[in-house]
Amino acid sequence: IVRRLGGRSIVLVGMMGSGKTSVGRKLAQRLGLDFVDADHEIEAAAGMTIAEIFAKHGETYFRDGERRVMARLLAEKQRVLATGGGAFMLAQTRDNIARHGVSVWLKADADVLARRVRKRTNRPLLHSVDPEETLRRLIDERYPIYAEADFTVISHDGPHEIAAETIVTTL
Ligand code: S3P
Repeated sequence: IVRRLGGRSIVLVGMMGSGKTSVGRKLAQRLGLDFVDADHEIEAAAGMTIAEIFAKHGETYFRDGERRVMARLLAEKQRVLATGGGAFMLAQTRDNIARHGVSVWLKADADVLARRVRKRTNRPLLHSVDPEETLRRLIDERYPIYAEADFTVISHDGPHEIAAETIVTTL
């Protein structure tokens, strides 16, 4: 697979809670590629958590940083890259992903996502009165765009190794 990719990265896209980071890590191990998490790189570049960036500077500022970090990561080298849920919504980032990578949408049901993100609070977009309603709205907005990814893999509950293996057989 790695040879067939011809230097392109595997880019995991999808909603918060779809398992991009955990599955991406397993996938990278399985293929002997480096793994990088875009959210983590944005935090390192800003010297702040994502929640702090949103609180201090707002979402537009965060998206500008996300666009820049994604461009850098994609141009650097081949690896498995987990994106933030909104990255694939940025037209320029989508173009960069198409140029340097193969995109895989980790698709999950709304209730699966809701259950998973309930456990984690470092997600400013879900700091609303009704996080599940927000999640449903984002799903409606974003699914047609995630569907433009090169491949779609269903993210079920269960070991991350299984989803990683499904990606390996899909690619
Ligand atoms: C976001 C998803 C988050 C993070 C930020 C915004 C989104 O990443 O980038 O909170 O717009 O869906 P995860 O998908 O890794 O949670």
